[in-house]
Amino acid sequence: TPRLAVLASGRGSNLQAILDAIADGRLDARVAGVFGDRPGAHALERARDAGIEARALRPRDFAGRDEFDAALFAMVAAVRPDYVVCAGYMRLIGAAAVAPWAGRIVNIHPSLLPDFKGLDTHARALAAGAAEHGASLHFVTADLDGGPVIAQARVPVLPGDDPVALAGRVLEVEHPLMVAALQLLCAGRIVLREGVVEFDGQPLRAPLQL
Ligand code: GAR
Repeated sequence: TPRLAVLASGRGSNLQAILDAIADGRLDARVAGVFGDRPGAHALERARDAGIEARALRPRDFAGRDEFDAALFAMVAAVRPDYVVCAGYMRLIGAAAVAPWAGRIVNIHPSLLPDFKGLDTHARALAAGAAEHGASLHFVTADLDGGPVIAQARVPVLPGDDPVALAGRVLEVEHPLMVAALQLLCAGRIVLREGVVEFDGQPLRAPLQL
């Protein structure tokens, strides 16, 4: 059974979706630890409620990004994960920390990448007049929200949407997207080889639509 380390900064609804899928037997994995950059994050409490080790470090206690990342990823490595899952982890991870985990670290991002990398994706999708929006699960590289995309889920933008309404609609598809993509990853059906996503041994031409 693959071991997961989950990184989270806030609410932790994606973490909860993972925990629920494992508890229901829909995902063959184990969350070995939850780590983050905000000690008060609800995600940490969800982990502890499930009996899982949860620890956060404060970025301001470190000299810089590399020092913070080194300390955080030392805790991650200590739980010996097969995969690292960024689930609402809101800090950029530096290249030095990402490198050892290449092909074993994924992130969920609330947009149809490569559109709307970075923050405030829902407001930006509305401002751009997008007809569709959604979420993407991608391998993490040193390029922020720019790593190879594994899978996406789409929702329509509806008349009268505001960022909150749109974010809620996206979140409903994010959770099943996260679970479905982790099922494939944990089963070894999705692999990153020389920067290319392979699905069942074949290069993926376009992100899976889940
Ligand atoms: C999710 O919508 C996730 O896609 C997004 O933050 C939210 C976290 O919710 N992630 C990012 O914006 C990453 N840059 P959660 O804490 O309830 O899972």
